Amino acid sequence: MSRVNEVMDSTSNRVTGCLKGIGLLITVVIMILPAVVGSLNKRLVPDFPDENEVYQWAMKLDRSFAELFDRITGIEMLNKNYMKLSSKKKLIPLDGTTLVENMSRALADALKKKMDALQRLVDQAEDAVQNYTYDPEIERDDVHWVSMKSFMENDPRLVYDKKFRKGVNKSYSAVHIPLEIYEGYPEILNGLKWSAALDPIFRKNAEEDKNLMWQYFGSQVGFMRTFPANKWKTANPELPDLYDVRRRPWYVHGSSSPKDMLILLDTSGSMHGQNMEIMKIAAKSLLNTLGVNDFVNVAWFSEKAGWVTCFKTFVQANRRNKRVFFNGIDALKDGDMASLSIGLEFAFKELKKFQEKKEDWEGAECHQVIMVFTDGGTEESWDVIEKWNKKKKIRIFLYAVGPHILPYATLKDIACASKGYFTAIPSMGAIRTKIQEYVKVLSRPMVLEGEKLFEWTNFYMDVMSDRMLTTVTLPVYNNTFNGKNQSIVGVMGVDVTDQELRKMEPKAQLGPGGYSFCTDHDGYIVFHPGLPTQVDYLDDPPHYDLTDVEINNKDIIY
Ligand SMILES: *[C@@H]1O[C@H](CO)[C@@H](O)[C@H](O)[C@H]1NC(C)=O
Ligand SMILES: *[C@@H]1O[C@H](CO)[C@@H](O)[C@H](O)[C@H]1NC(C)=O
Ligand SMILES: *[C@@H]1O[C@H](CO)[C@@H](O)[C@H](O)[C@H]1NC(C)=O
Ligand SMILES: *[C@@H]1O[C@H](CO)[C@@H](O)[C@H](O)[C@H]1NC(C)=O
Ligand SMILES: *[C@@H]1O[C@H](CO)[C@@H](O)[C@H](O)[C@H]1NC(C)=O
Repeated sequence: MSRVNEVMDSTSNRVTGCLKGIGLLITVVIMILPAVVGSLNKRLVPDFPDENEVYQWAMKLDRSFAELFDRITGIEMLNKNYMKLSSKKKLIPLDGTTLVENMSRALADALKKKMDALQRLVDQAEDAVQNYTYDPEIERDDVHWVSMKSFMENDPRLVYDKKFRKGVNKSYSAVHIPLEIYEGYPEILNGLKWSAALDPIFRKNAEEDKNLMWQYFGSQVGFMRTFPANKWKTANPELPDLYDVRRRPWYVHGSSSPKDMLILLDTSGSMHGQNMEIMKIAAKSLLNTLGVNDFVNVAWFSEKAGWVTCFKTFVQANRRNKRVFFNGIDALKDGDMASLSIGLEFAFKELKKFQEKKEDWEGAECHQVIMVFTDGGTEESWDVIEKWNKKKKIRIFLYAVGPHILPYATLKDIACASKGYFTAIPSMGAIRTKIQEYVKVLSRPMVLEGEKLFEWTNFYMDVMSDRMLTTVTLPVYNNTFNGKNQSIVGVMGVDVTDQELRKMEPKAQLGPGGYSFCTDHDGYIVFHPGLPTQVDYLDDPPHYDLTDVEINNKDIIY
């Protein structure tokens, strides 16, 4: 229950839905006033009423709202009329807090079941990896698997299932392998072989929890094993199947630990034309691998260095902030000479400033990384690195972009000396695979600490069953050699539908105008009747907050 523990009903303890707005307003006003006072006090504004006085105002406002509310709803009259009908009938005030607590308890129980199922799968997978001996000579015929793409329309092996909204076969799991990966590749075949051991646990989980949706394992080598078996469906049948499990948000978040990332873009004159275009798309792809647990900012450098947007410090990598970065990156122009030293100095300074000044809740405790995009160069930056990064606490990843990369031996040395990675991205086509590589490096420290976090995604539209789902994930490690050489082998995931969670809503008490919603620790909506259901499936998880669904949304489905 790390992230989904706040369930609220917005009707509070009054028996009406039509005046929900007023109920909300009362809370909002009361919450805002002390906050205003707090911040003003800090700035020592003279002649401002003290906290106590403002509190009295707020209470007065609260009372008048309550009176107004009672008058408009005619609750007294209603109560009297009921009692006139029969002495036994009267209105009973509902206790909103208990309602919320009850629903939240029910949710916690249901989610606990999913997490237990997931844990069983991970234990089995880690066992199987440990028992398995890699066979470099493995042949296709040595492994039996069912490909999701091998199912035909109305395949007799699949039976329609109401819960999954499509044909499935609950006897085994089926496998998806990305287009660009050859099926007979030994890494894939070995992976398919050991992961076959998951099938009995998939089946057991499904039997124990009838509400359980998809269970799947996404492998670091690229395949995805899904239970129950079903036919692969692409989001857009016209386009080639671009699905690669390793690029799905749930996989990326499940496999990498939180980080503070500074993206440094070379905007010197040599970056014009194609180089610039590749860099912009690559930087945006990189941003798309980040999630709400990451903090990020984007800077440019040439003869000087500066931020690309109005953000002057690191911000949470949510959908809204990413949009701002995308626009800033699109607007970049090339010019001047490049100086990597100046860029790195800027980056180190800003990361240090952030580390020192940030609030407790800001930033990622685990990693600090600098991602540099450039077209190469021979400039030595050792003095800057020596000055700021002697202990190698900050990792530097270097991407050399463009078809005609300048000499880059120096860049490679810098990346290696900073526990990072050097990669060349010669063309547009290489962007997707190359950007992904850093995740492997950044997941290593998490593996060594044996740290595991249940990660919940926001609700998104599932392509396999056309339902709103959330995914809970855990990483799977290779614990061979007593944990000394751990590495990540993949991410295990289990889906939960919003329907299952909303079934626990106390509908009778909420009445026709009431509804429940749930937010996570970051304030993002987990479920809410106003959440848009159609989301582009290759897109980010939708990070909606209350203002999106309550204030900007005129058509909430009650
Ligand atoms: C909350 O749950 C308790 C115990 O399960 C039950 O007795 C009580 O009536 C519930 N309260 C509401 C308001 O649903
Ligand atoms: C791994 O090996 C142990 C000991 O031989 C065995 O008990 C266990 O069932 C095996 N696990 C898997 C998943 O094959
Ligand atoms: C699942 O597939 C197997 C073989 O592919 C078949 O024998 C079995 O009948 C199928 N199950 C269902 C429920 O159709
Ligand atoms: C696990 O790690 C060992 C040792 O590094 C390696 O030989 C083996 O192939 C790995 N297994 C998997 C499934 O990656
Ligand atoms: C563990 O990893 C290190 C570095 O990657 C390697 O040199 C070493 O041989 C590995 N040990 C085993 C037992 O695989």
